[in-house]
Parts: sequence; C-alpha cells; structure tokens
Amino acid sequence: MAGRWSARRGRKVERATLTITALGVYEAFLNDRRVGKFVMAPGWTSYDTRLQVQTYDVTGLLGAENALRVRGGKGWYASPIPGWLKSADKTRRKNRQTALIAELLIRYEGGEAELIATGEDWQWVESPIRFSEIYDGETCDAGFVDDAPKPCALFDAPMDNLIPQEGEEVREMERVEAKRVFTTPAGDTVVDFGQEVTGYVEFRVDAHAGDRVRILHGEVLDRDGNFYNENYRSAKAEINYTCREGAQTWHPELTFFGFRYIKLDAFPGTPAPEQFTAIAVYSDMRQIGHVRTGHAGVNQLISNVFWGQKGNFLDVPTDCPQRDERLGWTGDAEVFVRAASLNYDVERFFLKWLKDMTADRFPDGSVGSVIPNVLPGDRPSAAWGDAATICPWTIWQTYGNIEVLENQYDTMAGWVDAITGMTTTPNLWTGGTHFADWLGLDAPSGSYKGSTREDFIASAFYAHSTSLVIRAGRLLGRDVSRYEALYDAIVLAFRATFTDYRTQTEHILAVRFGLAEDVQATADALAEMVVRDGTQLRTGFVGTPHILHVLSEYGHADLAWSLLLREQYPSWLYPVSKGATTIWEHWDGIMEDGGFWSADMNSFNHYAYGSVIDWIYEVAAGIRHDEAHPGFSRAIVAPTPDARLGWLEASIDTRNGRISSKWNYGAEGVRYEIDTPVPATLVIDGRATEVGPGSYTLWGRA
Ligand code: BGC
Repeated sequence: MAGRWSARRGRKVERATLTITALGVYEAFLNDRRVGKFVMAPGWTSYDTRLQVQTYDVTGLLGAENALRVRGGKGWYASPIPGWLKSADKTRRKNRQTALIAELLIRYEGGEAELIATGEDWQWVESPIRFSEIYDGETCDAGFVDDAPKPCALFDAPMDNLIPQEGEEVREMERVEAKRVFTTPAGDTVVDFGQEVTGYVEFRVDAHAGDRVRILHGEVLDRDGNFYNENYRSAKAEINYTCREGAQTWHPELTFFGFRYIKLDAFPGTPAPEQFTAIAVYSDMRQIGHVRTGHAGVNQLISNVFWGQKGNFLDVPTDCPQRDERLGWTGDAEVFVRAASLNYDVERFFLKWLKDMTADRFPDGSVGSVIPNVLPGDRPSAAWGDAATICPWTIWQTYGNIEVLENQYDTMAGWVDAITGMTTTPNLWTGGTHFADWLGLDAPSGSYKGSTREDFIASAFYAHSTSLVIRAGRLLGRDVSRYEALYDAIVLAFRATFTDYRTQTEHILAVRFGLAEDVQATADALAEMVVRDGTQLRTGFVGTPHILHVLSEYGHADLAWSLLLREQYPSWLYPVSKGATTIWEHWDGIMEDGGFWSADMNSFNHYAYGSVIDWIYEVAAGIRHDEAHPGFSRAIVAPTPDARLGWLEASIDTRNGRISSKWNYGAEGVRYEIDTPVPATLVIDGRATEVGPGSYTLWGRA
C-alpha cells in the first residue's frame, strides 16, 4: 500500500511520527528508507482483544515530496497455525483478510500540524513477495513489477483492540557467517552456519534475470551426513527466489526459520561461504547474565542455553522455531522463566505475554496450554497453566517491580480458583487431562508422559500456585485468608494421599514445593534413587528444572555436579557431545547410534532443559535472590564449587548493579572473588558473613 504527498512549503518540520499497525505483519518505507527496525511488526498477541500499535519517529526520513510504502504479509495473523491440526478454527484464521492502518502526524514549527492517514485515496500494487507465511516460508520474484496501482478498499474492523506497543521489538540482532559449503553423500549442496539460529538467510548472488534460488532449511544432518528436515513436519520452511539481472543481496522479510543448515536446491553459479549470512532475529532484550567456566562442555551447554533463548524469544516464548508449531506453550515458559530472566532482561517481554494470558483465559479463569491461544478445544494442564502464577512471581523476584503482580494478581488467583472448581477431589487436583512429566525418561514405552502420577503433579502445583497467590496477595495488601486456609488444606490432603514417592520427579516436587513432611529424608531418598538409577536423570519437563536445586540444597551438591557433568546419555552434556548448538527437546534427539528419536516430535531447539542454567547462576556461582529483597536489593552469594570444573565466573546485571562471583581451584584451596553493589550474605564452606557493598576475596577448602 502506498500514499504520496508534498510537505508544506517553507515550513520547518519539528517532528513527524508514524503510528501504524496491521492485521498480519508489515514493514514500512518512507521515501524508500525503512521505518524503524522492528521485524515481524506488530508482533504476536491475542489479536482479537490486543493488537499492538507502533509509533516511530520519522522526522529524519521526510523530504519535500514524500511517499510512504508499506508491505504486508500474513504473519501469525493469517497463517495456518498450528500447522499440524486440522480445524475449522485454523481455516477461519488462515483465510482472514490482512489489513493495515497508519497515520503520519507532521508537526511544523509554530504549532501547525498535518495528519496523513490511510484511506480510500491510498493505492496498492502487488509486491515482488509473491508468498509469505509463518511455516512455509517466502517466495520472491525480484523482477516482478506491478505498475497498475489500484485503489485501496476500506476494511471494517473493530478498533477497540488497539493497544500501544508493550513488548520488546523483534529485530535483526546478530549475523552469523556461513562456515562452509559442502556436498553431502546424497549429492546435495549444503551450507553450514555452525550454529542453529532463528531468523533468515541473507544471500548475495550475481545472476541473470529469471535464474532461480530454492533454499530448504534444516537443523541437523542425518547419520550419513545428509541434509535432513523431516522433523519440520508439515512446515515447508523454504525460500523460492527468482533473480533479477546482476549482483543482488536478499533475505526473506516477512517470515522466519529455525536452522543451522540450508540446502541449496537451486542456486546460480558455484556457491561459496562468503555469499551466505544467517541473520538471527529475536526480541531486543538486554543480556544481563554471563557465565564462563574451565570446562569446555559446560561452556558449550551455556552457549546452547543462550541460543535456545534467542531462538525462542521472538516476541512470544515459544517451544521451538522450526516445525509446524512455534507456539507460546505455557509449560515450556514456566519451566524456563527463571533462567530466561537471569540471562536477559525479559521484564517487558513477559509483561506483554502475561497480559495475553489474561486475555485468553477460559471462562472459568483457567489458563490453557498455549498463549496466544490457537488450540481449539484446549483444556488446562497442571504445570502448564501454572505459568499463570510462576511467571509473574519470577519476574517480580528477579526485577523487583511490583507492576507484574498488580497486572496479574487476578489471573493468578483466578487460576487457583479454577482448579478448585475443576477438581474431582476437594483440596487436591485430581482428574483432568495433563501433559504430566512430559518426555520424562521413565515414560512407559510408546508414551510421551513420564511415570510420575498425574494427580501427584497436579496437586503439587495446586499447592505451589496457591502459595504464590498468598505471597503476591500479601504484597498487594489483598485479603488472602481464603487461600491460606486452602493451602493448609491442600498440604494436609496431599500428605494423607501421597504417602510414598515413586519416581525421581515425585521426590523432587515434594521437596521443592515444601510438601514432604520430612524434606531432608525425601531429598536423601532422591539422592539414593538417582545413584540406584545409575547416577542418571529419569525426569522430564516437570522434574528436570528442580532436580539439581533439590540435591544441592540438601547436602548432595557433589551428586548434582555429577549429573551436570555426565556426558553419556542421558544428560545435559550428551547433546553437546553430539555437536548440539542449542538445547534439544529430547535427551536423545540424536541417539547413540546416530539415528533420530523420531521424525514426528524432535526439535533441536527447545529451551526447556536449558533451565539448568538457573542452577549454575544460583548454586554453582551462588548468586541468589533473597525472596524478601526482590530485584537483588540484597543478595546472597553462596558458591558451590567443584574441582572438576576448575574455575567459574558468573555475573548478573541486576536492577541494583552487577553482582559477580568467581571461584578458582588453586594449590592452597579455592579462591573466591565476589563483587556486590548491595549488602549481601556471603556463604563460603557453610559459614555466613554479612557484608556491605564492595569487592571481596576469600579462601575456602578445596
Ligand atoms: C511442544 C512442547 C509442549 C508440549 C505439550 C509439544 O508439541 O513442543 O514443548 O509443551 O507439546 O505437551
């Protein structure tokens, strides 16, 4: 769509702003210069009730004669999401009309103003981008010109869903140059970027008009070294580009892919690595956490966690960026939120997404499995819907800004009330459909669900969510007496019902959520069980984020370290030994014999198990938040060193300054260096010292 006009003669422009949004995705160009850096604007929200509007300062882009051109695509709004489901709801969304609304406000010196707004006097032409969609990719005919502008039609849409931009803008954040171009045993030409990224490929090519480029995306090679992307399922994830004459550089503009490899199905000339760059596109969040260690495998794991977050924080916290899914799964976000909030400043990112959660609640106040909710017929699952309480609480604890609790309190309390209304047994959560300890290693053959009892998980999270509602409510001055009574009743019922713990995850939850009558004995029993299991994890999405915390908190730090440093399957370092550059969905996405776990559900960029990095910050480096002092206005630094690592350095740029912790094994013991900008409790070898802000060097036992 385009509009043209002349600036008022002889008038100096003081400021010009473009206010714009779309049903779909858009990029705007004022006088052929791109407006802003937001990729995939206006982002992804629960569009029916919340559509973000962006405002850009375009003063510097104005001339005497002006043309505003906006290119639109389907984006999340009109793509067939989720790809794997057949539903009338999806078809309805896929066929929705895309649309654009914009106004340019020019303020001249002296107070006069001019408003140029989209309307019937605007015109549209067909774009060289012939096709674009979230899962299937983009098709561009660079030589295509439509020189027959047509008048725009007015589209009657409700406007009460328009809201100002709330989240971080998605931007082109990093460029990763191709490492090599090679021919596979099957004869395909493949480019390897050496790193899995989410975004798109930029290529440079000297070609004749009409030459074709066809690019397919993949995350891994198969055991024979061949290109593989069956795990993208129905997502075609391809680029089709028709060249114009001469040298040209191009990348997709209205979609994204998750990939490390690309297959050049068609490409003019002999491709060389210098012709390809992967552009990583993600929400513009500031990195605040840093960790380095003396262990190459752990360092790669840490890098994989960061890349997992970058690849899945593209406006919404998603499960994965590549297959016909890429949804805001609540369970995955709940599992990873602590880690996410220490790696990057994600307060704004979560403030926005949590408001979508509120908007998409079911009528009974319960929260579904994906936000924005695009799953018709979805029902709430324990540990997924509990994102309603866990995410706001974590964001509050990390950043110390009460706004998130003020915004979300009703949704938090509503979630607990909904469980109370849904359950088949008073004071426990029984019945319902749950994802259980998803992908747990103790799953019976053929099942995705670990062996931990569903009622156990659901009731444990019911207790935990209730306790978070109480804590949040007290801070906000709400009457929480009803929840206090409920919490006590849940704990009693839980203890009376679950008198034994059968799996690793059952032990973990009973300790972590304070439900076991004897937490020390339960943690000891967990340690014994882990050793009996071969010093191996048997956990899935629900147990894994907490297992190391539970072990180290109750005197089994050495065992926690052994789990972290284990390299054989199953372990965090096993994928690293297989060359992973992001976190895998399955502990054995690539099996020991080089085969794949499956084609139907095997993502190589799923951040959930990357939650282990919060243990590295909080226990290994020991930089802990103190619940009574959110935002790290006071700190606890209690490092837990391990000689197998040699050394570790970590820091977090908190809202109160940088807290850093280093330890290093030397001949005379362990040397600690701690910097704190806030009063802190330093705990070395179990001895606590209260200190003021400053830098401290201490020595401890090796
Ligand atoms: C997603 C998960 C999600 C799960 C729910 C999967 O398809 O990729 O990460 O939490 O479904 O069971």
